[in-house]
Amino acid sequence: MSSDTSAALFVLRGISQRYGEGKNAAGILHNIDLTLYRGDTCAIVGASGSGKSTLLNILGLLERPSSGELRFAGRDVTTASPNMLAHWRNRSIGFIFQSFNLLPRLSALDNVALPLAYRQQRRKSPRDLAMQQLRAVGLADCVHRRPAELSGGQRQRVAIARALIGEPTLILADEPTGNLDQQCANEIIELLLGLNIEHRVTLVVVTHDVSLAKRFARRIEVINGQLLERSDHAV
Ligand SMILES: Nc1ncnc2c1ncn2[C@@H]1O[C@H](COP(=O)(O)OP(=O)(O)O)[C@@H](O)[C@H]1O
Ligand SMILES: [Mg+2]
Repeated sequence: MSSDTSAALFVLRGISQRYGEGKNAAGILHNIDLTLYRGDTCAIVGASGSGKSTLLNILGLLERPSSGELRFAGRDVTTASPNMLAHWRNRSIGFIFQSFNLLPRLSALDNVALPLAYRQQRRKSPRDLAMQQLRAVGLADCVHRRPAELSGGQRQRVAIARALIGEPTLILADEPTGNLDQQCANEIIELLLGLNIEHRVTLVVVTHDVSLAKRFARRIEVINGQLLERSDHAV
């Protein structure tokens, strides 16, 4: 990590998020600053309702903050059009969710190939690329199964393969191990950290699990609308 923001993937300056109007308005994030660098591994922790998903959705260009400035890969995305945001999301970001979000009627292979339906260029067929990704996450033997025929851990691997097929710069995962037992949870985090080492993909992972959070180089707590970062060197 360095303080030179030219190597930054994300720069957040004075970001606030409020929901509702007037008397019912609720401030979730208050004037936060955060810089994430390419290749960072970052765990987001915090109590339920503290704003972890809100922060992740802002990073994922899914939610616009109420105020503040957000730069992504050197561009000011604060005022970008919904079409531009969708384009950057599709090109640069892989999402992983607690509940896997796979399409139940499609095989693992077709779930993984799906994001390529929205892309133009094809050097290899989407199914060949999907096969390659499923092999990389250790699921070569299950490619024709539907989600219901897979274990929770296997479903999350399919979701990871689907996130990877677009070769994202960044993976955002919202409680990816929330529905998994401890052993599967460890394996999934291991897999994600391995991707960071192999492909230098930047990882931002929301987790409740303190022991899993400790595996990440950066740990940021969302507390009272603020971000509190603990470094490995803190007492
Ligand atoms: N779209 C929304 N409209 C209104 N309130 C919301 C919306 N999204 C989240 N909230 C509220 O913001 C707070 C933080 O939510 P969230 O970011 O999902 O927390 P966490 O992921 O840490 O559990 C919660 O009180 C939640 O009810
Ligand atoms: Mg959440």
